Parts: sequence; C-alpha cells; structure tokens
Amino acid sequence: MTAKRGLNLILLGPPGAGKGTQAKRLEERYGIAQISTGDMLRGEVAAGSEIGKKAKAIMEAGELVPDEIIIAMLSARIARPDCAKGFILDGFPRTVPQAEALDVMLGEHELTLSAVIELKVDDAALVERIAGRFICATCGAGYHDVFKPPKIPGHCDVCGGTTFSRRADDNRDTVAARLAAYHRQTAPILPYYAAQGRLYSVDGMAAIDDVTVAVERVLSGLEA
Ligand code: AP5
Repeated sequence: MTAKRGLNLILLGPPGAGKGTQAKRLEERYGIAQISTGDMLRGEVAAGSEIGKKAKAIMEAGELVPDEIIIAMLSARIARPDCAKGFILDGFPRTVPQAEALDVMLGEHELTLSAVIELKVDDAALVERIAGRFICATCGAGYHDVFKPPKIPGHCDVCGGTTFSRRADDNRDTVAARLAAYHRQTAPILPYYAAQGRLYSVDGMAAIDDVTVAVERVLSGLEA
C-alpha cells in the first residue's frame, strides 16, 4: 500500500451497516488491526471499569459516549504494536470533534489516513439486520439469523462453540435511538472527509461478499 506508515482506514455507516463484518475481513486480508470503539466500550462495561460504569447507561439508551472518553481510549489504542501495518477504525469517529481529534492524533503519530469508506444502507434494512444479529460467546464470531447463520445450526463455524449471545442495545427502541444519533451527530462528518478528498461510498445493501469486493476495489484504487 502506498499510504505512509500503513493502511489506515475508517469504515463509516449507521448501526448495522456492516462495519464490523467488513472490518473483520479486512483485518484478515491485510493483516491490519480492527479497532471497534463499541467493542472496546463493551469490554470496559464487562470489566466494570470507571469508563464502563459511565458508558453502560449511555449505550443502553442508544446515545453517544462523551467525546473526551472515546478520544483518550482511541489515542492509546492506535499506539499499540498491532497497528504497525495499519488499522481499520470501526465506529470512530462519530462526531466532528472526534474527526478533528483524530487528525491531530494521526499527525502526532506521523500517520496518514488512507481512505474513509462509507457503507450506504437504507434505514429500513437496519432494524432487521440488527434484530437478527448474534455472536459466538466463546470466540466472538458474528452471525445473523437469516443473512449469516452458522453452517451447522447451534455450532460456531470458527471454534465449534455452542453458546451464543445478543447485545443489550440490539432491541428495536434502542436501534431507533442509535439511528437518530447517527443522523444527528455522525452523518455531518461525511462532508468533513469529502472536503479532504478521502471519502468513498460503497453500496452496503448488497450481499456481504459483494460489499467486500466493492471495498477491495476502493483499496486497490489507492494502490494505483
Ligand atoms: P458500535 O458497537 O460501534 O455499534 P454500531 O455503530 O451501532 O454498529 P453495529 O456494531 O451495530 O453495526 P455494524 O455496522 O458493525 O454492523 P455488523 O457488521 O455487525 O457502538 C455501540 C454503542 O457504543 C454506540 O451506540 C455508542 O453508545 C457507543 N460508541 C461506540 N463508539 C463510539 C464513539 N466513537 N463515540 C461515542 N460513542 C460510541 O452487521 C449487522 C448485522 O447485519 C450482522 O448480523 C451481519 O451479519 C449482518 N450484515 C452485515 N452486512 C450485511 C449485508 N451486506 N447484507 C445482509 N446482512 C448483513
């Protein structure tokens, strides 16, 4: 990849757009780190840390956790060794102040942003996607009741685990609040990156494999 110091990507899109699904594929394909601020926050909640205590109720209401908490968390994360070849930001930035803070952080680490890829999805499809989502409780592999069931029902394709879980914020009311937060606070960062000439949009309504092909097409264009 031509980007200075690795392939550094942002995947942008509303809840359920497929950011996590595509980020995991990019992680495997390019050997770069997936950084999901949602997963990091859920880890803090599970650990009962100070950050987790502050974030729990906010996340369950479908609102955004304060910028200062997220920015401090992210700044420490991109300095870790597994980001040496690059990273995929999944769920960050989510506000204009987070996008501005990211530019400062990248400058401090002498990194450049390779691309911002927006997954465009109709709001109506998102509720169905999120309501059907579950993960393997052992290894975290993601599934969907309809779109991506395990090959052998009740058994994780990756580790064979038989226990699965669903997220606390994946209910219809919270999804509506998360979507509203996306349109109100996150969508305004699209013009921010368009103005930098880094924004690429991909049809997130296509099948999972076709979205991957479209994302990889964007990335191969960066190499040219
Ligand atoms: P976070 O964990 O980031 O959740 P989100 O943005 O709401 O996104 P999701 O993880 O729900 O969806 P996704 O786009 O990854 O979709 P997925 O690939 O799983 O954030 C949770 C909360 O944490 C926030 O509400 C906020 O409170 C807090 N937070 C996090 N970051 C923050 C930040 N930076 N600032 C402030 N607060 C923050 O796909 C969904 C389902 O659809 C899956 O089952 C999948 O199999 C299926 N699917 C995927 N692609 C397709 C396809 N193309 N066709 C059919 N099905 C598909």
